[in-house]
Amino acid sequence: MAQYSRVSGSVCLITLQNPPVNALSAAVRQGIVDTVKRALNDSKVKSVVICGQNGVFCGGADIKEFGTNMSGPPLIPMIHAIEAANKPVVAAIEGSALGGGLELALGCHYRVAHSKAILGLPEVTLGLLPAAGGSQRLPRLIGVPAALNLITTGRHVTAAEALQLGIVDQVTDHSSVDTAVKFALSVAGQSLDSRRISTYPCPRPSDLDALFEEAMQKVRQSARGAIAPVACVQAVRAAATLPYTQGMEQEKELMATLFTSGQARAMQYCFFAQRAVGRWSMPSGARWDTSKPRPVLKAAVIGLGTMGRGIAVSLAQTGLSVVAVETQERQLMEAKQAVSGMLQRGAKRRGVAPALNRISYISNIQAVADVDLVIEAVFEDMALKEKVFQQLSAICKPGTLLCTNTSALDVDHLASQTRSPELVVGMHFFAPAHVMKLLEVVYGSRSSPQAVATAMQLGKKMGKVSVAVGNCRGFVGNRMLKPYLEQAFFLLEEGATPELVDGALEEFGFAMGVFRMSDLSGLDVGWRVRKGDGLVEPGLESGQSARIRQGRRYSPLGDLLCEQGRFGQKTGRGWYQYDTPGGRVAKSDLWLHSFLEGYRARHDLVARRIDHQEVLERCLYVLINEGFHILEDGIAAGPEDIDVIYVFGYGWPRHRGGPMFYASMVGLAKVLERLEHYHQAHPDVPYLKPCNLLRRLVASGSPPIHRWREVIKKHHSQL
Ligand code: COA
Ligand code: NAD
Repeated sequence: MAQYSRVSGSVCLITLQNPPVNALSAAVRQGIVDTVKRALNDSKVKSVVICGQNGVFCGGADIKEFGTNMSGPPLIPMIHAIEAANKPVVAAIEGSALGGGLELALGCHYRVAHSKAILGLPEVTLGLLPAAGGSQRLPRLIGVPAALNLITTGRHVTAAEALQLGIVDQVTDHSSVDTAVKFALSVAGQSLDSRRISTYPCPRPSDLDALFEEAMQKVRQSARGAIAPVACVQAVRAAATLPYTQGMEQEKELMATLFTSGQARAMQYCFFAQRAVGRWSMPSGARWDTSKPRPVLKAAVIGLGTMGRGIAVSLAQTGLSVVAVETQERQLMEAKQAVSGMLQRGAKRRGVAPALNRISYISNIQAVADVDLVIEAVFEDMALKEKVFQQLSAICKPGTLLCTNTSALDVDHLASQTRSPELVVGMHFFAPAHVMKLLEVVYGSRSSPQAVATAMQLGKKMGKVSVAVGNCRGFVGNRMLKPYLEQAFFLLEEGATPELVDGALEEFGFAMGVFRMSDLSGLDVGWRVRKGDGLVEPGLESGQSARIRQGRRYSPLGDLLCEQGRFGQKTGRGWYQYDTPGGRVAKSDLWLHSFLEGYRARHDLVARRIDHQEVLERCLYVLINEGFHILEDGIAAGPEDIDVIYVFGYGWPRHRGGPMFYASMVGLAKVLERLEHYHQAHPDVPYLKPCNLLRRLVASGSPPIHRWREVIKKHHSQL
């Protein structure tokens, strides 16, 4: 809806009303068309202000309408009618003007923004382009390079930057509506000829071809197969090279291609999935999202290694006081230096003062007595963590939430070491913790809804995408990674190379293939875990048992590399070679290729030709299969939770929606059939055996992903 009112005698105020973000639904568009018409026909009205209710101008097109039979007046003629009006129309921007919201504002003759407002054209993040004239008006208003940057990245700009770029005419610290009304009064009756952006010539930089070539190269490199950024460049090129009406035609054609692409569906699914993971009840039926979180003002981090440092930075940047505890004196000093450096660099980037004084560094754990929440990040060693939790339980004031950053250990067991197991949860951050967006909040069988709510809310405040998951080995993300890595090893045994496997995965859209990723995070990490599990048997070079451990097929390839001191980037050698230890550029390593040949010969394995499709099917379908087990076990509440974890924590390409969404796009029957095929070929690999839930979903006619929960619920009730 849009409300019509008259203020200051001659100004008509049109207020968009569609909570929570005044998205441009059919009813809102109809409301705008009607009220603008009324204002233009009302002889007492000399100028018009458009604003949004509840402090938000407009969050853009209504994403829920995409993919439905869109009714109501279309956006483009509506914006044209505003631009063509013979009375000045001023946009009063408060909160956000995003996507269609900014396009609407660009159709107005003037824009006034509140200093805290954000503006942007984020369509590219939904697999689309700004197709209500945004791709044609913005370059005309602010020039091609700046428009290319905003449209291809979808980034939000502050009101100050918008003023500097020329997107808005005025910024105010007071009410944007009051300021816009005053502004509207001051410009009433003035000529609007120079205010209609569609009539502006687009500034043409002299090096136009080079500029667009560079932009295209940049998006192709970073988009990893996503088509929307490429279309965005093409649309801006149309603005720079064609008259407005022809540019609009191009915008429409490009949008039509994007709109019907699977990529746009995947990205819109991600948008809603990201928000849906915040609403969920624990299997006991208790809802944590309706529990009142405890206030957390002071927190402690125990262990200042790789993870503890990033967590301390992130907590301090959120405004908390932090007690950082590290037992090793030298490590404590190094950590202080490293953390201060990270805080200073972060503050410089954000143009704020570094939060150096918020952190106190200490070697005595007694200093955590008065904190509200502790995050333990000591070595991944159960005996050590047990001791730390016993200490924390004795030292901390009653009510302190005790969290562990363990990657895989049993949260229930740690809780059992404390006086108040209901206050123990996992807060599983990802490296580097001050950068990575994902946080798995692991609830144990005795964690209280309030404890989960507190950890979830803290994660949100830290700018993380928090997902609540159940307690099992590896939780959701790492549990699914295990069969994926295992398949990659088996593929090497059967004839593939790290280059081939990584090539297939990177072509699919991963930022890094599995072997490049292992080199980056360190091969020794998994080696230590496998040793702890009793899987590593050094010296077992040949013979049948070398490739069978604990009764199932096993590949010792990773262990053999570690025995040679090849830990990945940190040692300059891993699955690839690097110029120096710590080097980042992976190069093929002939040694590794002959090592693989020798390994195959020792184990009587005959190398065969493996293509990209087999790599993708084996690595991805086995990971997806584990995802179904996780749903079956109730460890993740729904497929959205798994997908959000993979997109935000594991580099799964967003334009493919996450593993479970991808499975739904491929077709569950096909995933099942391929898993059956590979399981028949490799009966000694249990991970390839299709999960019962997958079979059940296929038997139920492969319902769309938003209906899987019904089948899962039925499946649980019959187990
Ligand atoms: N269409 C439909 N629903 C939208 C929406 C849109 N354009 N923008 C936001 N919403 C919904 C969200 O799904 C959420 O619904 P829920 O409460 O049922 O989960 C609700 O509005 C609040 O959004 P949320 O993102 O949680 O609020 P926020 O205050 O953190 O952020 C925005 C507000 C506007 C910055 C953010 O929602 C946003 O970026 N929206 C998308 C903007 C966009 O891409 N527009 C272009 C569309 S082509
Ligand atoms: P790390 O080896 O880099 O650091 C651990 C630190 O804990 C060391 O500085 C050590 O001196 C300190 N420490 C040991 N005992 C202590 C004690 N009693 N009190 C205080 N400090 C103590 O380890 P990390 O990689 O930061 O991992 C920490 C935890 O985070 C582990 O449980 C790990 O599984 C988990 N994790 C790691 C990653 C990763 O990528 N590194 C990702 C997610 C989770």
